[in-house]
Amino acid sequence: MRILLLGGGGREHALAWKLAQNPSLDRLWAAPGNAGIEDIAQCEPLDPIDPEAVAAFAEKQGIDLVVVGPEAPLVAGIADELASRGVPCFGPTAAAARIEGSKAWAKEIMFRAGVPTARSATFEEVAPALAYLESLGEPCVVKADGLAAGKGVRICETRSDAAEAVRDCLERGAFGPAGRPVVVEEFLDGEELSVFCLTDGRSVLPLAEARDHKRALDGDRGPNTGGMGAYSPVPGTSDVVKRAVREIFRPVVRTMDKEGARFVGLLYGGLMLTADGPKVLEFNCRFGDPETQAIIPRLRTDLAELLLASVEGNLRVYRPNWSPQACITVVLASGGYPGDYHTGLEISGLEAAATVEGVQVFHAGTARRDGRTVTAGGRVLAVSALGHDLAEARERAYDAAARIEFEGRHYRTDIAARAAEGG
Ligand SMILES: Nc1ncnc2c1ncn2[C@@H]1O[C@H](COP(=O)(O)OP(=O)(O)O)[C@@H](O)[C@H]1O
Ligand SMILES: [Mg+2]
Repeated sequence: MRILLLGGGGREHALAWKLAQNPSLDRLWAAPGNAGIEDIAQCEPLDPIDPEAVAAFAEKQGIDLVVVGPEAPLVAGIADELASRGVPCFGPTAAAARIEGSKAWAKEIMFRAGVPTARSATFEEVAPALAYLESLGEPCVVKADGLAAGKGVRICETRSDAAEAVRDCLERGAFGPAGRPVVVEEFLDGEELSVFCLTDGRSVLPLAEARDHKRALDGDRGPNTGGMGAYSPVPGTSDVVKRAVREIFRPVVRTMDKEGARFVGLLYGGLMLTADGPKVLEFNCRFGDPETQAIIPRLRTDLAELLLASVEGNLRVYRPNWSPQACITVVLASGGYPGDYHTGLEISGLEAAATVEGVQVFHAGTARRDGRTVTAGGRVLAVSALGHDLAEARERAYDAAARIEFEGRHYRTDIAARAAEGG
């Protein structure tokens, strides 16, 4: 089998690491990849959001499966382009990727499917949005419709903050075309949970749940980031995951199919566990980062086989096998991230870190320069560790993380800390 993986972050390194274990793999390519992926795949300087270029490459190389990591190529129609040329692609069509690419459309699907989510309405104009705000309590939430690199959601303490957020989107063009329409919704209280389900468009196969840590600093302080760490499993959530599969994932997949937007790929539900049960905050149309780096090490079933089954529509016969171990991943970030940071800084200690039992170091923003590994992004590495429980996984991950150095590196010291203590 010949596989092409699109993307170049920590999620893609974790996927590449697992795909590379497939016994019938002939060749693995990644575009663009990173310094860690380079060790297990051939990296190509292709732009993942150029569907034509990717499809031409896939055809030329006789690729049997394209695996798409990030959302942008999916929303841009990579799966459609590949399908038109008969190249199997793991990841939804542009029509189905709208579940992530348009929060307004995702809400419509949720309402039609009757799944629990925050009460909301969608607006193109300021005045009716402000009127609707009067019907909501405080705090409330304003969301840009389109992809906004994780910056399009504002939790507003007051209605007047929310009114400003609406104006930012609709009048001041804060997010460009992604800011129109806006979704205005009620605030949901509870703990968040990320649930990953594979689907072939009909069957839904829950993979695993994870919890991520979005804030930059310990104790959930500091600015929001792409994610500073994650852990899986999340203790005490197995019933809620089953309930979410029944009440959320199956109805949404069925509704999308009925609407002509059959979803093939990984459907990621960002849930709020409220006092009234799980409610959807959003859907993503791909694996999460860094949750994937905490889930993939636990997977014993062959990943390529699972992804192919989803593409070929026979997921129903699969039951993935999981390690009973827990996994955590700790992100090592550049100094200054999520603000400005330097790149090109030499990274040392990677080999020493890799010798810690149960540890896999996944590269996120790295590059190779003159035979050395250097930083090339805000999130540089994700240090994952398995352990017999979260406490042991934490010890191992932090032992390994401390062995890795680059100027200005920072990481949170409390990933999975509360869960490990049983709280
Ligand atoms: N209705 C809501 N109530 C409370 N918090 C919310 C709500 N919607 C979003 N959030 C918070 O904002 C974060 C980002 O929102 P989300 O809808 O996941 O958008 P994105 O990931 O595209 O930025 C969520 O992880 C959650 O912490
Ligand atoms: Mg989110």
